Amino acid sequence: MDIKEYNDKIKSILITKEEIDEAIKKAGKKIDKLYDGRPILLVSILKGAFVFMADLCRAVSVPCEIGFMCAKSYYNGTQSSGIVNITMDLDKDVSNYHLVIVEDIIDTGRTLNDVVKLLKARNPLSLTVVTLLDKPDRRVVEFKADISLFTIPDLFVIGYGLDCGEFYRNLPYIAEYKEK
Ligand code: IMP
Ligand code: MG
Repeated sequence: MDIKEYNDKIKSILITKEEIDEAIKKAGKKIDKLYDGRPILLVSILKGAFVFMADLCRAVSVPCEIGFMCAKSYYNGTQSSGIVNITMDLDKDVSNYHLVIVEDIIDTGRTLNDVVKLLKARNPLSLTVVTLLDKPDRRVVEFKADISLFTIPDLFVIGYGLDCGEFYRNLPYIAEYKEK
């Protein structure tokens, strides 16, 4: 792909960096209020949530540890494979932790449904799900996040951690991807 083609695929900005920053501040305060000084373990689902995680962890004031899990549901392009694979697991026993799952987007709901089931079976002290984006129109498995920053229509989006074919994760905003 050449640079012109790369840029042409960024159709329009859906959520600006400023809007994201503002929403993250609010989400950080909600988390602080919810845990009221108790320590938490923020668990980011890679790769998509790495940017959100980096900003969200700096918006909370309760003591926090961070952890990463890798779940893959999109093999390539914009089509969901329907199969969720945990390709990297947490490196600690979560039974002594208040878990806060940090996800980039809930689409069909399959990824979080599987991840939450898996983590709940390990008996954490509590479990809360925070998602940056929610595409409720595309749900296949019923799933609702405890904290959702933006609800978006059924569009394929890129930027702020979200990719198409591994590109565009570094855009500082959320944009609609031009699918032919
Ligand atoms: P779900 O399992 O269908 O809910 O999909 C969740 C995962 O699919 C997310 O963590 C993303 O990695 C990916 N995904 C879903 N929708 C989009 C999108 O619009 N752009 C980029 N990635 C997406
Ligand atoms: Mg993801």
